Amino acid sequence: MADLSSDYCGLTLANPFIASASPLTAELTSVKQLQQKGAAAVILPSLFEESVARSGSVLNEYADKIKSYKDALDIPVIASLNGITEGGWLEHAACLEQAGCDAIELNIYYIAASVKESSDQIERRYIDLVYKLRAQIGVPISVKLTHQFSSVAHLVKRLEDTGVNGAVLFNRFYLPDIDVESMTVMPSLQLSNSNEALLRIRWIGLLRDQVALSLSATGGMHTIDDALKALLVGADSIQLCSVLFEKGIDEIGHLRDRLEQWLEDNDHPGVAAIKGLMSYGRVADPSAFERANYLQVLEENS
Ligand SMILES: Cc1cc2nc3c(=O)[nH]c(=O)nc-3n(C[C@H](O)[C@H](O)[C@H](O)COP(=O)(O)O)c2cc1C
Repeated sequence: MADLSSDYCGLTLANPFIASASPLTAELTSVKQLQQKGAAAVILPSLFEESVARSGSVLNEYADKIKSYKDALDIPVIASLNGITEGGWLEHAACLEQAGCDAIELNIYYIAASVKESSDQIERRYIDLVYKLRAQIGVPISVKLTHQFSSVAHLVKRLEDTGVNGAVLFNRFYLPDIDVESMTVMPSLQLSNSNEALLRIRWIGLLRDQVALSLSATGGMHTIDDALKALLVGADSIQLCSVLFEKGIDEIGHLRDRLEQWLEDNDHPGVAAIKGLMSYGRVADPSAFERANYLQVLEENS
């Protein structure tokens, strides 16, 4: 039998599939089901900086939830913090660690909307946040990033140097929509599809040989092919969300079984043996990850 285990941020996962932060991980009954169906770890929905600022009881409830998950589950439980300032809220991370979470995922959901803020200042914000969080806790930290940076690769390396154990690529931003009848701006939430996977696959492939931290793919991971591609370019874990909303949580088990079958059919001993086999540094033609690929596609279609 193929060995599906994967090391992610120093945690040994039984397989690479994680239930990412969403309402699906908000209740004890659903995380128990996720574990039973094959999830190798669960990430709680985010604790928002703004919620903690409004009421301290939110923090206690979150810590109690971590404790109850830890009591009920055998798989790693990852807390998620979502904020953008260096304020006192980060000090609360120690409570989450005390409650027993195995790692903390920091989601810096920041829209760089001002013409007055430079890319340098924005990246500094990320580094400062991580620096402060690292000082509060000893458990592994992963950072969930958007792809909208001038240099994703440089930022990930800086985060690694600041003590981050994993990068989660990439956050999806929920885009405001305009209702032309009522002339109002409305939030819109759409689930992803597999088309979004390729952005993650490119960047994980580009980064794999340049950094040592763990890499997790989130966004557009729907099919076994999406997951295999992410692993082949070097992902250590695959986060699932939209696909579980669409197909139900049984899908996590189906994906795990298909991964096992693929490894056996292709004579690979396990996940560790295929991770990074097709990273930028290891493929025969690495330029396919870059600009040359664009030229080729244009020439073929002209
Ligand atoms: C309804 C919903 C709620 C979510 N809540 C959170 C959250 O609290 N924190 C977070 O970091 N990501 C959150 N996400 C983002 C997911 O964890 C995931 O990164 C994103 O949906 C991309 O993965 P997907 O293409 O598999 O959906 C949420 C997504 C959805 C659809």
